[in-house]
Amino acid sequence: MPDSGAASKLYAAVHAPLAHDSAEKHVAGEALYIDDLPEPTGLLHLHVGQSTRAHAGIVRLDLSAVRAAPGVACVLTAADVPGKNDISPIMGDDPMFPEAVVRFIGQPLFAVAAETLPKARAAAALAIVEYEDLPPLLTIEAAQAAGSTIEHSQVMRLGDARAAIAAAPHALSGELAMGGQDHFYLEGQVALVVPGEDGDLHVWSSTQNPTETQHLIARTLGIRDHAVLVEVRRMGGGFGGKETQSVHYAAIAALAATKTGRPAKIRLDRDDDMVMTGKRHAFRTRWAVGFDAAGVLRGAAFELASRCGHSADLSIAINDRAMFHSDNAYCLQAAEIVSHRLRTNTVSDTAFRGFGGPQGMMAIERAMDAIAWTLGKDPLDVRLANLYGVSGELTPYGQRVTDSIALELMTELAESCGYRARRQAVRAWNAENRWLKRGLSLTPVKFGISFTANHLNQAGALVHVYTDGSIHLNHGGTEMGQGLNVKVAQVVAHEFQVPLSAVKISATRTDKVPNTSATAASSGSDLNGMAAQDAARTIKDRLAAFSAQEFGVAAEQVVFTPDGVRIGDLETIGFTELVRRAYFNRVSLSAAGYYRTPEIHYDRARHQGRPFYYFAYGAACSEVVIDTLTGENKVVRVDILHDVGRSLNPAVDAGQIEGGFIQGMGWLTTEELVFDAAGRLTTHAPSTYKIPTAGDRPDVFNLAIWERGENREATIHRSKAVGEPPLMLAISVFSALTDAVASVADHAVLPDLDAPATPERILRAVEDVRRRAGRHV
Ligand code: MTE
Ligand code: HPA
Ligand code: MOS
Repeated sequence: MPDSGAASKLYAAVHAPLAHDSAEKHVAGEALYIDDLPEPTGLLHLHVGQSTRAHAGIVRLDLSAVRAAPGVACVLTAADVPGKNDISPIMGDDPMFPEAVVRFIGQPLFAVAAETLPKARAAAALAIVEYEDLPPLLTIEAAQAAGSTIEHSQVMRLGDARAAIAAAPHALSGELAMGGQDHFYLEGQVALVVPGEDGDLHVWSSTQNPTETQHLIARTLGIRDHAVLVEVRRMGGGFGGKETQSVHYAAIAALAATKTGRPAKIRLDRDDDMVMTGKRHAFRTRWAVGFDAAGVLRGAAFELASRCGHSADLSIAINDRAMFHSDNAYCLQAAEIVSHRLRTNTVSDTAFRGFGGPQGMMAIERAMDAIAWTLGKDPLDVRLANLYGVSGELTPYGQRVTDSIALELMTELAESCGYRARRQAVRAWNAENRWLKRGLSLTPVKFGISFTANHLNQAGALVHVYTDGSIHLNHGGTEMGQGLNVKVAQVVAHEFQVPLSAVKISATRTDKVPNTSATAASSGSDLNGMAAQDAARTIKDRLAAFSAQEFGVAAEQVVFTPDGVRIGDLETIGFTELVRRAYFNRVSLSAAGYYRTPEIHYDRARHQGRPFYYFAYGAACSEVVIDTLTGENKVVRVDILHDVGRSLNPAVDAGQIEGGFIQGMGWLTTEELVFDAAGRLTTHAPSTYKIPTAGDRPDVFNLAIWERGENREATIHRSKAVGEPPLMLAISVFSALTDAVASVADHAVLPDLDAPATPERILRAVEDVRRRAGRHV
């Protein structure tokens, strides 16, 4: 069926600003999360005993008092794992429980299953553990000095960047450090496992990755994949933190259920979750750029280093994505990107919205500001002058950029938010105000869409049409609040031209759609939307062929409309009536659908290829005010113009853009992970770890979805992925804060401001700028 043409006569199921299918249930508290499910009889509750040392040999692990404690049903250690003691996604370096050596504070050492959670927790406290401390590596610098890595350093090259920089009329260099970030999903890690016949397991897990949960439970238990069924109705947020790390806890519950033959539940409380689970990677980036008098780059070099934690987890792909985004939206002309991946005795860092992309982009945005201030130009002009054009310029990884709309977006946004006049106003305001200073910045985002691990770019779906005309929809993606289910249901409703209420959204299950990828890389609707459309079209084709035969018309003359199915010029029969007739004539009304992204390829050994099917773009302008006496700061206004192609659902997309931006703002301003000298995370609760609150939302927040947006590639209804890209719009806040700090010395020196730009860092940066510029207050 064509997407347009007879559009006015069709149900506008796609492109409509429909509410999230669970919106009312979320607000009313009626949406069921795993801990809300009725508890099965005989349920055991699990508590995990954690390592208290960052790096140590286990000399003695005496759990006899734990076993003897009241209400304890079983205690689990490495010795109890019947299969492979490894819950790693790829590298085989992540034990479920350590055998001889602990590698970070908070590492699961053993688990206790008891009649109640308080009993499990009390019993765990009776463990006697003796350690022999080994030297821990806690920081990027310490790991680098010790040569401790998860993989050898990677290099990406375009031309000869070092020579280009040396030959350029101007050159600048600097260094920028960024902290990590806790996912702070509202629902922490949780799983419930119910054992069945023959050792089979039914697992409810809050996971973005049901298939990997299934596979790793089977592997740790030494059973076949077909014995494990994983089900996910929804998560209370994932943000990447449940792409791999949820598996560990589901696997512990599965082991307890298998050992005892009883149902078992595990739910980490907030403090344990924050200490035990991996986060966004902290990075330190050295940058160097060469440019001409107009501020146009001749070449750029980046040396990235990240703290990966004790195991590889997804760090290889995350650091690759950081390299892919070192250019952000700018044509570097010549580039050298080096990436070091450091192994440390900290929790294993993992996927987090943007997947390394945000960290990758930070240095080039700092460089843009530095170039502008050095040349006495407006940073917006320097940014505009360096954007990829439309002539297919090369990225450092050899992909041609043919879809760049960054120039259009930034120009439109600069106009609509009054950037030029506000730049003057900020300058005038700063001249008049001694202690408070304003900053303004407009930055772009260009984000590559596709899993960079090629095989993950596939998806499946399952659609049943029942004889009353209602439709059951299942697909491989998981719902974490991002609105994937409503979007995919819209796609199916559109195909059959039935109201959205005719389509039942159902829980993701590994026995309905197998071998799925994690819902990640923002590709949930791109992949699963296409797979569901494929399934729906298979059934439609069967119904059309049946109708053609029944009524003696060509199959092409059978058209699905909101009034029913039109059979050429003969008649229109109700959808339900047609379905019933088809059933009695033995037409199958159930189909599996499948999709794989075309055209992408990547040669990782050379770091060359086309890893991304397309790019998603956006731009944001942020205005901030800082107090130079205290470092306190506030974002006073934000304007966003974001490209989602032809939106599948503008209401859901607007929520993703706003939420992503605010989450990014938290990363860059207030959320600080502080580890003490022993490697203990000291900010493991909202009392000390500050995520944005309603009060941090800028008073003026103008958000627009780019109306002319349309994916040039044949994605689902020409939409674009939206989950991650908006997070990086928050780099405008960081840049505006840097601008405000630089203003105390009229931009004569480049601030040394790292992320997160907490009040303390801002204050220190202000004083440092004044000192270096020889200014006295
Ligand atoms: N939005 C909400 N509300 N909750 C989440 O956990 N995760 C983000 C993003 N938006 C997330 C979210 C991340 S990290 C990704 S990769 C995408 O959603 C995944 O969903 P999608 O591919 O369907 O966009
Ligand atoms: N993004 C998110 N998750 C992933 C990716 C990616 O590119 N590759 C593997 N897991
Ligand atoms: Mo998102 S970090 O790809 O789960």
